[in-house]
This record gives sequence, structure tokens and C-alpha cells, in this order.
Amino acid sequence: MARHPAPLPLDEQTVPGGAAEASSAAPSRRSFLGVGAALAGGAGAGLVGYGLGNSQTGVAPSAVAAASSEGAAPDAPWAGSVIPFIGAHQAGISTPPQAHATFVALNLTPGVGQDGLRRLLRQWTNDASRLQRGIPVLGDPQPDLASPPSRLTITVGLGRGALVEAGLADRAPGWLAPLPAFSVDRLEPRWADGDVLAQVCAEDPIILAHAVRALLLSATGIAAVHWMQRGFRRPVTSTSAMRNLMGQVDGTVQPVAAELEQSVWIGADGPDWLRGGTSLVLRRIRMDLDTWDALDPQAKEQVIGRRMTSGAPLTGTKETDVPDLAATRDGLPVIPEFAHIRHAAVTTAGQKILRRPYNFDDTPAAGSSAEAGLLFAAFQADPVRQFVPMQQRLAAGDLLNFWTTPIGSAVFAILPGPAEGEILGQALVG
Ligand code: HEM
Repeated sequence: MARHPAPLPLDEQTVPGGAAEASSAAPSRRSFLGVGAALAGGAGAGLVGYGLGNSQTGVAPSAVAAASSEGAAPDAPWAGSVIPFIGAHQAGISTPPQAHATFVALNLTPGVGQDGLRRLLRQWTNDASRLQRGIPVLGDPQPDLASPPSRLTITVGLGRGALVEAGLADRAPGWLAPLPAFSVDRLEPRWADGDVLAQVCAEDPIILAHAVRALLLSATGIAAVHWMQRGFRRPVTSTSAMRNLMGQVDGTVQPVAAELEQSVWIGADGPDWLRGGTSLVLRRIRMDLDTWDALDPQAKEQVIGRRMTSGAPLTGTKETDVPDLAATRDGLPVIPEFAHIRHAAVTTAGQKILRRPYNFDDTPAAGSSAEAGLLFAAFQADPVRQFVPMQQRLAAGDLLNFWTTPIGSAVFAILPGPAEGEILGQALVG
């Protein structure tokens, strides 16, 4: 599989007050310099060109600029960075992952029907379009927490239950349903399913918390929280690799930019209301860190098939080296038969998934040192064609299963990005 350290459109711009990013972006292994360079040309443009119809927001560009420039000091290179809300695809998917994420699933209040879903999506369109630019939402109880925008993204999806409540079950793709059971699953209902999803990501956890609360206030009376899952990873500016809490370098192999069309975005073969959208499979995977840490580093490397220090495959020297699954030493495979990457690897673009994992770390149970793991967020055009066979192979042959347990699972249809003047889900309920 081709490696793509940053499956990322260079779609970010700065707002006034965030010029530090354009002028002195810190070096990054995740191509942040590339983003910074792209920004350099756009920084002076401020918000002009973000193109959000003011019919949606009712906010004049000058007010936007004022609100943004009054935000906290742009001491971090990403503080003033805005990720556009309008576009063919929603932000927060191929966007370079931010340091913090909250995934929140809500269930619609029975009886709100299609009108309720439409009202929610209209509200969230307004909210997201403002918040991603660092602008308070209408009636914001905490307007000072809306800026600097800090690379905020709000990504909205629908579970099967939303379409059922809206009387639109016949328009749901077949894959919009709970995944088939896997032998490794120990699923807990408190982390399962949900009618509506918001994935909210930002570099600044305060900006993130404010955005989540704004969305929940907008949902009052229409939908109620089912679960909320918070995760973290290194900031986009980090020069070090993303590591999960097992200590492994994680997120190396991804679909390359050109492959996103085949592997991630839903095209003409999908439902019309999802063209330009995708699916999200969110698995909450617990790690048994106490038994994992009883292994020596060499054993850990065999389990994954990569070096713990550098993330390089056992057949290479650098993280970016392509694993040679056929290589043998003394008649034995260098990357063991049971290695995670052997079972996860796919060769055709159409089977790849875009992984956007976040760590979680909660209160340990008595006698344990950690309740930690991965919020394994995978985006793909069709989970049944892409995620399910991969997870089946891993369930059957991956030694990592010994230390990892899926305890949560949910599937969402991630809506296409809205065009100017449209709401999220326009082609479904607009
Ligand atoms: C807690 C559970 C998991 C951990 C700790 C984990 C960790 C890793 C690590 C360290 C790598 C190597 C570096 C990289 O390419 O990112 C990797 C690769 C990969 N993982 Fe996982 N993983 C987990 C679960 C899963 C699941 C559930 C799936 C899909 C069903 C999956 C799919 C993949 C894929 C597709 C690759 C790239 C394989 C390649 O082509 O080299 N992983 N994982």
C-alpha cells in the first residue's frame, strides 16, 4: 500500500490574529510546512474567499474579522488557522488530524420526524459555519470561547435511526447498519450506534469544548446525547510521529490523495444524497496495557511487524519504507504470519480505509493501571466492502487481539459538504 503521511488537501487559511502560522509554521512530519506555505499566500486575505453564504450566517465579513482578531493571542502556529466549512466534502476527514477530538452521538427525540432532523441539520450548519471561523453562534452564552478557531472542524453524520425517524429508511444504503459481529468483539451498548453524530476536532480543547456545547444547545428538544467519546493525539505541528498508548507509531499507511476518490468519497454508485460524503466506522478499542508492557520491545515489534522506536517495518529502516511481506530470514517470514500489518494490508485502492485514530485514557478499574485505548475512526466509501473484510482478517489472525478488545462500535453516513446557501443533508431533507 502506498504510504501517505498527510492525506491532506491544503485547504486551510488564517484569520487576522493568526498570522503567526503563515509566517513561522513549525516544521512538521505531517506536511504542516506545506500547509503553512500555502497559507502564506492567503494570510493577508483574511476571511475573504471562505465563501460562506452570509444568507447562512447573517454575519458580515467585517464582523467576522473583528470577532476573530479579538480572540486569544495567536501564540500557537495553528491558533488562527481556519479550515473551510463549504466544499464538496466535509472538513475533518482528509484534514490533518487535530490534537483533540470529541465524538458525540445523539438520539432523536421520538416523534420529531423529518422536520426535526431538518431543523437540527439547519442549526448545525449555522453553528459549524460560524464556529469553524472562530465566530460565536447566535445567542452564544460564551462568545469569548469561540476564537481563535484553532483548526476546528465539525463533521456531521447520520445513523440508520435518523433515517428511520425521518421516514426515509428506504433511502439508507445497505451498509448503514450495525457491523456484523466479530469474534473479538465485547461490545457494550453504552458505546454503540446513535442516530446523529458530530465529530468535533480542534487543536485547542477549550475551543473544542465550547463548540460541542453549542451543538448540544442547538439540539435541545430535538435530540439527546447517547454517548460522548473524547480522544487526543499529538498536535498537527508536532515533529514527532503520532503514537498510540501502546507506544507504537500509528497512522503511517493511508490512501494517497488520488486514492481518496476510490476509497473514501462516495461516488455515482452510492445514494444521490451521499455523493461527496463517506462513512465513518468508530470502534472503541480497549488496550490491556499492563500485559502489553510485560513484553520486551522485540516481542512488541513482532506483534505489529514494525519497530517500536521508528515505526519502520521489520524489513526496512524508515517509517516510510514499504513493508516487504514476502521477505524471509532463515526460512521464516521477517514480518511474522501473526503480525498486525500483514493482516491489515490491502493492495487495491478500493479496499483501503482512511484511519484517523485518537487515543483515549479514562479512569482505571480497581487493580488496573489504565483504562486506555484507541478511538479507531475509519472513513471509507463502503464499510461492508472495505472495513468488514479487513476486520474479519484481523479477528482471525492478528496477534494484537491478545491485548486489544473492541468495546464500542457505530456506523454513520457522513454527509457531503454543503455548497453555498445549502444546509448539511440538503439532498436528503433540504
Ligand atoms: C487498538 C487497536 C489497533 C492498534 C493499536 C493498531 C495499531 C496499528 C499500527 C501500529 C500500525 C502500523 C503503522 C501504520 O500504518 O499506521 C497499524 C497499521 C494498520 N492498521 Fe491497525 N491498529 C489497531 C486496530 C486496527 C483495526 C481495527 C483495523 C481495521 C479493521 C486496522 C487497520 C490497519 C491498517 C489498514 C493498517 C495499515 C497496514 C499496512 O498496509 O501496512 N487497525 N495499526
